[in-house]
Amino acid sequence: MTATHAEPAGTGLGQPILQARNLVKTFGRVVGLDGVSLDLYPGEVLAIIGDNGAGKSTLIKCLTGAEIPDSGELMVSGQQVHFKRPQDARLHGIETVYQNLAVSPALDVASNLFLGREERLAGPMGKIFRVLDTKGMRRKAKDELNRLGISTLQDVTVPVENLSGGQRQAVAVARAAAFGSKVVVLDEPTAALGVRESNQVLQLVRDLRDQGLPVILISHNMPHVFDVADRIHIQRLGKCAATITPESHSMTDAVAIMTGAATA
Ligand SMILES: Nc1ncnc2c1ncn2[C@@H]1O[C@H](COP(=O)(O)OP(=O)(O)O)[C@@H](O)[C@H]1O
Ligand SMILES: [Mg+2]
Repeated sequence: MTATHAEPAGTGLGQPILQARNLVKTFGRVVGLDGVSLDLYPGEVLAIIGDNGAGKSTLIKCLTGAEIPDSGELMVSGQQVHFKRPQDARLHGIETVYQNLAVSPALDVASNLFLGREERLAGPMGKIFRVLDTKGMRRKAKDELNRLGISTLQDVTVPVENLSGGQRQAVAVARAAAFGSKVVVLDEPTAALGVRESNQVLQLVRDLRDQGLPVILISHNMPHVFDVADRIHIQRLGKCAATITPESHSMTDAVAIMTGAATA
């Protein structure tokens, strides 16, 4: 085993999109994060793994404005930021898909993509009668899915309740990735899915990466992590035990670092 803190695949990836420095977060006497740093580069999939209680969720929450760290710094494209709530992170293009899928089953794919940012018709129909621009949103939803390379959702007029679990997850991911977002954070996106559907979602993660959008992927599934991640951040007891790559370390190595049986 080599390289405790591996460089991102391919050097010269430029400035990190998202940087965390020495994040500390305590809950009373419990230390959730004990000085954690992380860099996310353009167009990479960074996996975060670790045992229960290692601080994965707390780390993600600090990156996405759901928790405020006690100390430490966050930077987006080199600019320091202070997120007080998830909307602050969203305004900087950081979108999160939580485990409990936030899609509306009765609405179609296009409406789900535009949930919370619906567009109205131009003129009095939209301004006075608040009529939605359904056609326009469907067209833009299609364009956005094409741009993101998401091929599993062909028909944006289908109600989400008629889709498979993998396709629903794709809708949630598409919504996070669409409309100028800079970073997509996925919390256990394949946890509730079967093999075929998991593969669809993993392909989606690769597609986003290939469009230049960096993805942070929290997962317990080692084969999935080793399949799609460019780099792997290993949390242990509130600290980053190592950052490795699928090339530098095996799954067995990763589990050993996670459990403290080995160091990188
Ligand atoms: N809101 C909270 N209140 C008290 N303790 C918390 C809270 N959130 C997390 N913790 C504690 O912080 C540590 C890290 O938790 P967490 O980030 O959820 O770990 P993971 O997601 O890796 O399982 C754990 O000891 C957990 O019990
Ligand atoms: Mg967790």
